[in-house]
Amino acid sequence: MNTFLTSSKLNIATNSLDWVMNQTIRHSLNLQDAVALDELQQLIVPDKPIETLYIHIPFCHTLCRYCSFHKIKFNEPVAREYFTALRQEIRQVLAKGFRFNRVYIGGGTTTILEDELIKTIELIKSLTSVREVTCESDPIYFKDGNPHLLKGLVDRMSIGIQSFDDKILKAVGRFEKFGSSLQQAEYVSRAIEIIPTVNIDMMYGFKIQTPEAVAIDLAQAIRLHPDQITTYPLTLGIGKNRKKAGCLAGEPNALWPQFLAVKEALAEHYVMEFPWTFSRNFGQPVEHKYVLDGEDCFGVGSGAFGRFGEQFRISSFDIPNYIHRIKAGHSGTCYTKPLKTKALSQHYLMMMMGLGLLNNQQCKAYTGKSLWHAFPLEMSFLISAGALNKQGDNYITTVEGQFIALKMFSGFLSGMDFLREQARELPLSAIETLASI
Ligand SMILES: C[S@@+](CC[C@H](N)C(=O)[O-])C[C@H]1O[C@@H](n2cnc3c(N)ncnc32)[C@H](O)[C@@H]1O
Ligand code: SF4
Repeated sequence: MNTFLTSSKLNIATNSLDWVMNQTIRHSLNLQDAVALDELQQLIVPDKPIETLYIHIPFCHTLCRYCSFHKIKFNEPVAREYFTALRQEIRQVLAKGFRFNRVYIGGGTTTILEDELIKTIELIKSLTSVREVTCESDPIYFKDGNPHLLKGLVDRMSIGIQSFDDKILKAVGRFEKFGSSLQQAEYVSRAIEIIPTVNIDMMYGFKIQTPEAVAIDLAQAIRLHPDQITTYPLTLGIGKNRKKAGCLAGEPNALWPQFLAVKEALAEHYVMEFPWTFSRNFGQPVEHKYVLDGEDCFGVGSGAFGRFGEQFRISSFDIPNYIHRIKAGHSGTCYTKPLKTKALSQHYLMMMMGLGLLNNQQCKAYTGKSLWHAFPLEMSFLISAGALNKQGDNYITTVEGQFIALKMFSGFLSGMDFLREQARELPLSAIETLASI
């Protein structure tokens, strides 16, 4: 099929996919049925460790326009009080008997108070035997901070770069904050000398980006030899954030050629794990761990989400309320939402698409049904969009299928954005009526 036909067929498919995902998110991630956590919902401690303990640090010095993560402008006394509450919540959760394989500290800016971050990781390491600690960071920390103090504490650092093009850095307001592309490259090199595994986050889909510009950007990233490169398509969300980030975004149909440019640029030195994550194929293989992998996750801190089994858990998005709850001996989680089987299986489909293989046996083991029984409409759509090739009893994704998986991932990020917007509006529970965890 010629390229024009492929891309117009794909554009029709992805435009309708965008519409369907929008509807699905509004339906399955609606918090109208969220329930305030009370004494009836005592936590059941699972027999085996939960895969990830997610810790949220909701402070940044300045706020980027495209970013919808939970954060407020940095205020040192509040942030210090917050870290104290956070450590108390971690102690409470561990005392309850919860165990974890890994820790992921995300933000916001996790390194905003280095001494507090170190104290927090040291506490976790003294009380648990977690295999890996990942931390997110902005690049300037590797100029202004003392990253050598994190040696032996942080195993994997995920650094937000977004682009090595000064025009883009200026357009999104990161040039003034974190320096020019040359300076940021220097900070990444410093990080690579200190931290065992370094990932850098890059973004595409900005208005002024072309496939050529994306390729040049990634060539710069590859020159630094990070262990991993994550390539995020700019995600607009479906609520209030859409307008703010929308003025930075290119045409939706410009994303497909940019995705092809990403793949081509990284093909020689990196292995695609998912269509948005790439790990090096040089030197020692990397043990990678992203926060999104479909496994259970327990969230602590203000604005953290957690999921285990069919229950989705939401922590207070109001920072003073969060601190107050913890000081009073209560859980940081204030709402739970039952997840519908349909939502869980659609997440599973996204992960299978991302991994590139739809395996019938595994699908039966997870959902109790074959691929065509579990996903009749989705399978018809994927076949007609040219996203799958049959291989025996299974299906493998084509390049178009990888792009559809990327759009599903972007839909997932929009869903998280939608959840955050609703979570900020949830009524605060009266502390006096709460039971302790
Ligand atoms: C929450 S940020 C934390 C990293 C750090 N604060 C920084 O800015 O360098 C984690 C990553 O999310 C990605 N991100 C944030 N907003 C996004 C959006 N609207 N669409 C796609 N990716 C986004 C960026 O690549 C960013 O590096
Ligand atoms: S991208 Fe990073 S620095 Fe910018 S607002 Fe989001 S969390 Fe803060």
